[in-house]
Amino acid sequence: MNRILKKRVLTSEIKLFEVETPLIAKRALPGQFVVLRLNEEGERIPMTIVEARPEEGVILIIFQEVGKSTKQMGTMKEGDVIADVIGPLGVPSEIEKFGRVVCIGGGVGVAPVYPITKALKEMGNYVISIIGARSKDLVLLEERMRAISDELYITTDDGSYGQKGFVSDELQRLIDQGKKIDRAIAIGPVIMMKVVSEVTRPYGIKTIVSLNPIMVDGTGMCGACRVEVGGETKFTCVDGPDFDGHLVNFDLLMNRLRIYEREEKIALEEYGQGKGRNL
Ligand code: NAD
Ligand code: FES
Repeated sequence: MNRILKKRVLTSEIKLFEVETPLIAKRALPGQFVVLRLNEEGERIPMTIVEARPEEGVILIIFQEVGKSTKQMGTMKEGDVIADVIGPLGVPSEIEKFGRVVCIGGGVGVAPVYPITKALKEMGNYVISIIGARSKDLVLLEERMRAISDELYITTDDGSYGQKGFVSDELQRLIDQGKKIDRAIAIGPVIMMKVVSEVTRPYGIKTIVSLNPIMVDGTGMCGACRVEVGGETKFTCVDGPDFDGHLVNFDLLMNRLRIYEREEKIALEEYGQGKGRNL
């Protein structure tokens, strides 16, 4: 249980694990996530379930090495065991026949948008996907996204691949071309989800975003993941992670994500120097 069966390096900073978790694989639905602990004293790390294969008893997770724990996770090898994998957690994404949907993934956000896009396609929606990254070498899951999309658009910030610009620029272009859009799903950096929600707001296009605040228990007990949606406090782990982007207070979320910036920096520096606890 919890054994890493397969490891792939997708980009310089993004890795994929296939983890043996038969019970989670059997129950997971698109939009749900797991919380991992690498060892007994480890930090809890929330990760979207990118794919669940119940017949093989595996789930697929994709992560970016941003802080100390994810860097440490990146050093794990095939055959290693993750101490805890808890899930599936969170409310599954709303999958219905909406008509024409636009699925937008920014950077590593393409990984969590993939299972939702796939489910929306299987439900019979016409799927337009927009995936973006800083540069060509960071574009994620292009072939997988192409296989489940009726139209796929790629953007890079530096113009090294696809259209130069942000994913939100491509969305604006499609709207300006007069494409009718019934629903948008956007996952990526908070600023991207904020900007996409502002692009769709004037057109009344319902826009779902998947939030990624700091989480601790992942089961609604600690309040660490609270966000403000439509003026109300919601717990992302049990009320989300999907919310209506037009109602989310993104500025508050961005501020809350910065709370432990100093501690995270120190932990990362100490890890780099081989100091600190092996969490
Ligand atoms: P990044 O900074 O490389 O940005 C990825 C893409 O998002 C860009 O290529 C661009 O198209 C778009 N984008 C960025 N800034 C924008 C702006 N100001 N306006 C419009 N579009 C913009 O992202 P990355 O390094 O791959 O991702 C890192 C962030 O994504 C982390 O903060 C991580 O926590 C977050 N993330 C969120 C989720 C989630 O569930 N919401 C999942 C994975 C990662
Ligand atoms: Fe503790 Fe959501 S992570 S309440």
